[in-house]
Amino acid sequence: MVPSLDGSPGPGWASASLPLAMNASAPVSRPLDVHSHANPDEVRVLHVELDLDMRFDRKVLEGSATLHFERVCPEASALRLDTRALEIRSAATAAGDGPWSTARFEVGPADPILGSALSVALPPGAARARVSYATRPGASGLQWLEPAQTAGKRHPFLFSQSQAIHARSWVPIQDTPSVRLTFAATIRTPPELLAVMGAAGNSTGSRGGTYRFHMPQRIPAYLMAIAAGDIGFAPLGPRSGVYAEPSVVAAAAAEFADTEKMMEAAERLYGPYRWDRYDILVLPPSFPFGGMENPRLTFATPTVLAGDKSLVSLIAHELAHSWSGNLVTNATWSDFWLNEGFTTYIERRIVEEVYGPETAGMEAVLGRQDLEDELVRLEDRDEILHIDLSGRDPDEGATRLPYEKGALFLRSLEELFGRARFDQFLRGYFDHFAFQSITTADFVSYLREHLFAGDSGKSASVALEEWIERPGIPAAAPRPTSEALHRVAAAAQEWAIGRTGPGLEGFPAWTTQERLQFLRQLPSPLAPQRLAELDEAFGLTSSRNAEIASQWLLMSLRGDYAAAAARLEEFLVAIGRRKFIKPLYEELVKTGGGRARALAIYKKARPGYHPIGVDTVDRIVGWQA
Ligand code: BES
Ligand code: ZN
Repeated sequence: MVPSLDGSPGPGWASASLPLAMNASAPVSRPLDVHSHANPDEVRVLHVELDLDMRFDRKVLEGSATLHFERVCPEASALRLDTRALEIRSAATAAGDGPWSTARFEVGPADPILGSALSVALPPGAARARVSYATRPGASGLQWLEPAQTAGKRHPFLFSQSQAIHARSWVPIQDTPSVRLTFAATIRTPPELLAVMGAAGNSTGSRGGTYRFHMPQRIPAYLMAIAAGDIGFAPLGPRSGVYAEPSVVAAAAAEFADTEKMMEAAERLYGPYRWDRYDILVLPPSFPFGGMENPRLTFATPTVLAGDKSLVSLIAHELAHSWSGNLVTNATWSDFWLNEGFTTYIERRIVEEVYGPETAGMEAVLGRQDLEDELVRLEDRDEILHIDLSGRDPDEGATRLPYEKGALFLRSLEELFGRARFDQFLRGYFDHFAFQSITTADFVSYLREHLFAGDSGKSASVALEEWIERPGIPAAAPRPTSEALHRVAAAAQEWAIGRTGPGLEGFPAWTTQERLQFLRQLPSPLAPQRLAELDEAFGLTSSRNAEIASQWLLMSLRGDYAAAAARLEEFLVAIGRRKFIKPLYEELVKTGGGRARALAIYKKARPGYHPIGVDTVDRIVGWQA
C-alpha cells in the first residue's frame, strides 16, 4: 500500500463496510484531459459550495466543499475528483434535497504531477457530495505570507494561484478546464482581515471575518481564486476598481486609471464584457506571475507599478482574457495557445486603441524578440502551438511560445483577410463559443467555416498545419516593426562602437519600451567600464522600473559589473516574479563563483518565494533542503 501524503492509511477504502464497484474496470477511452483524474464523462460537477476557515495560525484552509453534479452516466458509481496533498476528513452524499449520509471514499496514490484522485462512492440517486477537508501548509496553489513579507508589515496575507493544476491543492474538484462550474463560498478570516475572491460579493470596506461570494457564470477550476489580508480599495470607474494593501492603493489607482477605457475598447472590438465588474488585486511582490486573469478580479504583481503607466499592457492582457480564456476556454492544456495567443493578440489591439499604434507596435517588436530568444532555448516539441504535454507538468508549456507565436498567427490572418473581416470573425467566435471550453480542433473547424469559407484563394495560402502542429515560425510570419525602436537600436549600435552619436542624449525622454530596446540591442557582454558609463549617465542600478532593473541586472551579471551586486541581491530578495528571477539565477549559476553567490542570495530569498518560485529556483541552483 502506498502511503498518502497526509500520512493517513493511503489508498484503500476509508470505511470498509461495503464492497465498492468503482474503479473496477479499466478506462474505456483516452481521457480528453491527461492532466486530470476526474471522470466528468460519467459524473460532471456543475456547482460547488465552499465553506472554509482561513487558519493563519496553522497556514491551512479547513472546512468543506459541497459538489452538485450531473449523472451523465447513470450507472457510474463514483465521483472522481482531483486533489493534491489535501487532508480528506470525511465524505457524505445526498440525493436532491435529501438528508446527508456518510459516504465511503478512497484517496489514490499521489502522482508527482497530478496529485491524488479522490473517489467518493455514490449511491444510485445521489446528486450532491460533501467533502470535509483541510489543505496543507505547503499547498502548491496557496502562499501564506508572514506580516514581514507584506508592505504594511502588520498583518499576514494569503493568496491563491490555481492555474494550471493547482486548484486541486486547495479545493477537491474536477480540475480540468473542460469542466465548467459555478460556485458559492462562505469564508471566515481573522476579523481584522478582508477576504476577496474572483467572484461577486467583494466588499469595498466593511470587515468582520465572515465573507460570502458567488460566481454566477460557469468557469473552469483554474480560475478559482481567493486572497485575504489588510486590503483596501479604490474605485477606477463605474464597474472597476483596485484592491491592494492600504499603502499601495493610491499608486495602483493612478497606474491603472485607464482601465475603464481599456474595457470600452475591448467591448467595441469583441462584444460586451460579460462578467459585470472588473477589479484588480495588487498582490505582495512574491506573486510568481505578472498577472492572473481570475474572473472579475485580476491578480497582479506590484512590479507593474512603474509610476508612469508604462507597464499597463499587463492589465490589457488580463482584461483580454475576459474574452479569450475566461469566456472561451482552452479545453485542455494542449490548447493553452487558444488562451494565451489570442489574449496576446487582443492585448495589443487594446493597447493600440488606448495608447496608439506606436506603443502597440513597440510591444509587438519586443514580443517577437522574446519569441526569437525563446526559440533558441526550446526543444522542437515545445515550439508547437498544439503542444503534447502528456506525462509533463502543464506549467512546462507556459513559455513565451504559445503567447507570441499564437499572436503572430492571428496577426497573419488579420493581415491576409483584412482587419474588418478578421475583427468580425473574432467577435462571432466569442459569441459562438461563449462560456464553453474548446479544443484546437474546434477552433480550426470554426475558422474553416467562418473565415476561410468563401475565400478559397486566401485560405489556400494559410499554412495552417505548419502554424499549429509544427515547430518553428513559418517564414511568411509577420515581422512587426517600429520606427522608434529602430532609431533606438541604431543609437545602441553607435554607442557600442564608441560614437555616442546623436540620439543617446535622448535616453532620459525615452519610454520604457525604448529603454528596454536600447539595453537589449547592446553587445553582450559589455565591459565593466562601459556598464559604469551607462550607469553614471542614466542611473540604471537605481531604476525602480522592474523591467528595466531586471534587464540591467542581467547585463551587469554578464559583464561582471560589481557596482550592481547589492542591487541584485535586494531585487532577488524583494521580488518573486518568476519571469525576472529565473533568468537572473540562470545567469548566476553559469560560473562557479556565481553559483556560490546564487546560493547565498537564494538562502535569504527562498523563505519569501511562492511554492512555484521555489520549485523553479531549486532546480536552477540545485538546492538541497
Ligand atoms: N494566465 C497567465 C498566467 C499563467 C499561465 C499562470 C500559465 C500559470 C500558468 C496570465 O494571463 C499571463 O499570461 N501572465 C503573464 C503576463 C502577461 C502580460 C504576458 C505573466 O504573468 O508573465
Ligand atoms: Zn495570459
